[in-house]
Order: sequence, then structure tokens, then C-alpha cells
Amino acid sequence: MSLQAMEKTLDLLQIEAETAFAQAKNSQDLYQQKVNYLGKQGKLTEEMKKMAGLGPQEKPLFGKKINEVKQKLELVYAGVESSLAENELSKKLETDKIDLTLPAAGSDIGAPHPVQKTIRDMFEIMSRLGYSLELGPLIEKEQYNFEALNIPADHPARDMQDTFFVEGAVLRTHTSPIWARAIERKVFPLKIISTGPVFRVDSDVSHLPHFHQFECVYIGKKASMGDLKGTISFFMREFFGAQTQTRFRPSFFPFTEPSAEVDCTCPMCKGKGCPVCKNSGWIEVGGSGLVHPNVFTQAGVDPEEWQGFAFGFGMERMAMIRYGIPDIRLLPENDLQFLKQFAGVGL
Ligand code: DAH
Repeated sequence: MSLQAMEKTLDLLQIEAETAFAQAKNSQDLYQQKVNYLGKQGKLTEEMKKMAGLGPQEKPLFGKKINEVKQKLELVYAGVESSLAENELSKKLETDKIDLTLPAAGSDIGAPHPVQKTIRDMFEIMSRLGYSLELGPLIEKEQYNFEALNIPADHPARDMQDTFFVEGAVLRTHTSPIWARAIERKVFPLKIISTGPVFRVDSDVSHLPHFHQFECVYIGKKASMGDLKGTISFFMREFFGAQTQTRFRPSFFPFTEPSAEVDCTCPMCKGKGCPVCKNSGWIEVGGSGLVHPNVFTQAGVDPEEWQGFAFGFGMERMAMIRYGIPDIRLLPENDLQFLKQFAGVGL
């Protein structure tokens, strides 16, 4: 075959390949066409093999022509390839549309346990009045759990608090030993919150063997029932809401004299009467009183010089009243359904 005829065949092959590239339906199809024409066993390679039959002057001319066709085809290929890719991308964007109005899958985020949330909020209110946190040992010396708080060994008050005894010590039955220890430091005035877990041999609808208390204690040159009442009333309004009223009923605690039980108007029904307050409109929330002179004397502090008041709440009970939780035993159970219902409240 003459060089001219072979070159003519190449021209035709180029047109054929360009048409095939241009007509490719998608990138895969286009790639197949590239293999057909430019691949190792492709049509252009077949043409190249014919070079063997040409004379020495014709060979470089034909080689040059083949290269030109090859480069041209590669250029055309690249152009078609990029326009196909662009098309395919915009089609994909069209069909893979994201519906931004759909609700998100949602993920579970943690929330503080109702009791912890209650402790935090109570702490926040009292710290605004300048009270600071004080902690103490859970396994406590009998001395601090009882004697230092004017509860001698034969005192009937020890029966009130069914105690877990461990060798030579007790699991503290209240958080009052924390402030009995603090008074011993003799650094006054003293304004502390003593809080944490306490333990009693007790378990029914309204009692747990392991629960939490929150106490506030003030010691200064002067402390009256008026100061105590003012502080508690402020606390109750901040914690349960501005309309909350507080009342005091005479009571007995060995470490305070006088002592008073604290009630507040039911935050659920605002005092109208409901199941939470057993229709009385009032709810008992804790104990309070002026620090007994014997507590000062036991700590080596002169009760003529220093006075104080204290009040304490059960945290589980505060959480139940606040959130309307019907049974105290739900609190330590970690039942997810219960926690989801109550743990998010008021966050
Ligand atoms: N410690 C008492 C108890 O656990 C509660 C209590 C009563 C605390 C009167 C006080 C208080 O601070 O003044 O039963």
C-alpha cells in the first residue's frame, strides 16, 4: 500500500474515532472507545504495524502522521471526557438532592440526674449568699456523727437514725458531722454548705438506705431565728419560685435549740391542694434551728461568744417535689425511660 493510501486510511480512522468519542453515552462508554482506537490492541496500533512495509524515506513521514493523529485523538478524548464528567456530576447532584427539611436522626445527649441537678441549683443559690462547699468522710467517726452533735450514746435520738455500723465507725447518717468538724476549726464567721450521700437502715416508698442531704450552716457573733427564717425563705423563693411561702413548726433536734421543721407551699399546686402535698397545700422539706450551745462547747468554742443557725434538706425529696416524681425509689434505679422523662426537666 502506498504512503498516501495509508495516510488516507489514518485520516478516515481519525474521523471515525472522533465520532465514536463524541457519541459516547457516558465515561465508561468513552473509555471503551479509547481502548478500541488508542489501546495496545486498538485500531491505531494496527495501522502502526503497517509501517514495516514502507521504505526508509516513507517510514518517518508515516510515523509523524501517526503521532499527530494520536495526539489529536488524545486531545479530543480529554475534552469529551471532561464534559461527560461534568454532566454526570450535575446529574448526580440533581438526583442525590438532600432534603434539608427532614428531621435530623437525633442523638442522645446526657443530662444531669434530677438529684444532681437539684444539688447544683441549690448550691448555686446559696453560693450567691456567700456560702461555700464543704465535704466530709462518708465513713465517719461516731464522735462526729453523734457526740459532737449533742447526741450522747444513750440518747434516744440514736434510734431515730438507724445506723449502719462498720468496725469502729459508722456510715454517716447525716451531713451534720461535716459542720461539727468545721466548728472545731474555730475560724469564724463560718458560712458553709455541707452536702453529699448519707446512709440509713431504711427503705420504703419515701425512704432510701442511701440518699443525699444538703445543709447550710452559719456561725457568727449573732444569729437569730429571724436570720434563719429570712435565709430559708429566700432560698425557697429562689428554688421553687417567687410565690413560694415558708412556715416553721416547733420541733426537736439534739444539735439545735430551738428547732423547727420547715414547710413550704406546694410548688405543684401553688398551695391549692394536690396529690403531691396530700391536699394540704403545704409540704415538709427539712429541719432547722439555732446551733445548740452543747455543740459549741464540745468543739471548745464559747457559746456566749458565738452563735449560729443550721438547716438541712433531703435532696431526693427536694427533687421529687420539684419534678413531681411519685416514688423515691425511681431515683437511684437508672431506668432510662424514667431518666428521659425527668432528667431533661428544667435544664
Ligand atoms: N441532720 C438532721 C437529720 O439528718 C437534719 C437536720 C435537722 C439538719 C436540723 C439541720 C438542722 O441542719 O438544723 O435528720
